[in-house]
Amino acid sequence: MSIHEKLQRLEELAREAEQGGGPERIRAQHERGKLSARERLELLLDEGSFVELDRFVTHRSTDFGLADQKILGDGVVTGYGTIHGRLVYAFSQDFTVFGGSLSEAHAEKIVKLQDMALKNGAPIIGLNDSGGARIQEGVVSLGGYADIFLRNTTASGVIPQISVILGPCAGGAVYSPAITDFVYMVRGTSYMFVTGPNVVKTVTHEDIDMEGLGGADVHASRSGVAHFACDSEPECLASVRDLLRFLPQNNRELPPDAGITDPHDRRDEKLLEIVPDNPNHPYDMRKVIRHVVDEGEFYEVHERFACNILVGFAHLGGHAVGVVANQPAVLAGVLDIDSSVKGSRFVRFCDAFNIPIVVLEDVPGFLPGVAQEHGGIIRHGAKLLYAFAEATVPKITVITRKAYGGAYDVMNSKHIRGDVNLAWPQAEIAVMGPKGAVEVLFRREIAASDDPQAATDARIQEYRDKFAHPFIAAARGFVDDVIDPRDTRPRLISALDMLRNKRDANPPRKHGNIPL
Ligand code: HXC
Repeated sequence: MSIHEKLQRLEELAREAEQGGGPERIRAQHERGKLSARERLELLLDEGSFVELDRFVTHRSTDFGLADQKILGDGVVTGYGTIHGRLVYAFSQDFTVFGGSLSEAHAEKIVKLQDMALKNGAPIIGLNDSGGARIQEGVVSLGGYADIFLRNTTASGVIPQISVILGPCAGGAVYSPAITDFVYMVRGTSYMFVTGPNVVKTVTHEDIDMEGLGGADVHASRSGVAHFACDSEPECLASVRDLLRFLPQNNRELPPDAGITDPHDRRDEKLLEIVPDNPNHPYDMRKVIRHVVDEGEFYEVHERFACNILVGFAHLGGHAVGVVANQPAVLAGVLDIDSSVKGSRFVRFCDAFNIPIVVLEDVPGFLPGVAQEHGGIIRHGAKLLYAFAEATVPKITVITRKAYGGAYDVMNSKHIRGDVNLAWPQAEIAVMGPKGAVEVLFRREIAASDDPQAATDARIQEYRDKFAHPFIAAARGFVDDVIDPRDTRPRLISALDMLRNKRDANPPRKHGNIPL
């Protein structure tokens, strides 16, 4: 055979590999509102940047007629490319080939990519659309999953790992995305569950469909399994591209600086109007964030889960930062089980990847109640405390209003290594709010009074005057300064510049024992 004939053969095979399960199945995929594995990669990566690996890999099993059904690539397209010009590794499961199910060879392709991503220090993005373990391959397929889970775990905190669920993701297969840093889902076409609706019906007699059990909205708002729920695949893949603007390539790099157009010294008059004069009235902390960060752009994570805390990425003077903020508009911004879990996982991500943390604090305390206590608010709340305390990245706090009780300590206080802690003049920093304090301290006096309401009001005012301000904390140096709210942006940027070369470390150890 001449080289030209050999090249022709190569071209034929390449065309065959690109076909996946064939045009019929690709059409069926489109009819369901889903893109093909290759179309997804085209949208995810910079145009023309994708370099495919292992396109000639086929499965090895021969059971149930599989010997005659070899399909090049074996149901997953793997390779590398760029996003915003920076290297990423990506795999895209192909539902048109045996339902995207995971065979030994399919798993080996993903594992090879995981090893490369780890060795070369670049993010890995998995586009999941799979019927799970390839049934014909039995335990070999289960082993393939375990090989992937192991690498997800060893890469955790070393390179960013992102999972995009674009079809079924069921059974044990869910545990790879669950270990990764961020999970994206698409409404109506993707679902995740450990056991599907039929098994649920048999075991618990509950009637529920796939979307209701494990669709995007359920996981993005109730279980917290998904960080993002999108309306379409193109929107979802564009959002993944957006996320990467804030992330470093690996744990030894700093996140990229954004081009700065928003002036560093921009003061913002609106910041005087957001916090209501009445300390018991709510306000939307997102407004504070948007008036402070570059171009008002906040890339919110877990937007609809545990909405009493806000987490997400932004730039400040070009520095990528992770924002953690109490949200007084929801449950008065109180900390509860879900918000503690949400906040702590985000803080740990930022700390692992050298992303400075900016805390905006307005927290009345931890949520009281039997459900919270029995649900373990003690150990879950401890996660957030632990996460802030162990973090060694630059950590800055601005107390916009309430900082009461244990929540004051938890929300990146000076005592747990907050680097720069600022307060607005409206800040109230004390063991508890005025009403609660007066009820504890003056219960007998008020009961004995002729006019209990007047006695209560007088004591509340006295407590307010004495404690509900930031100057006792400032006198101790527990806040570094009390600032004009309009100066928040310049002060944060100045702090980030000052902390750019911060060095801090925890003692050598195998790993800490965060209360999981
Ligand atoms: C082999 C599979 C497959 C699988 C689907 N297919 N799942 N082949 N192993 N796990 C094949 C089908 O036979 C079919 O082939 C094609 O893929 C498309 O599947 P359909 O059923 O026609 O598609 P759809 O109606 O959309 O249903 C999708 C599905 C369903 C809901 C995912 O296929 C399904 O329930 N599959 C099995 C899911 C499952 O139980 N997996 C194991 C989970 S446990 P043809 O040739 O007919 O088109 C697991 C353990 C992980 O994964 C281990 C980690 C610890």
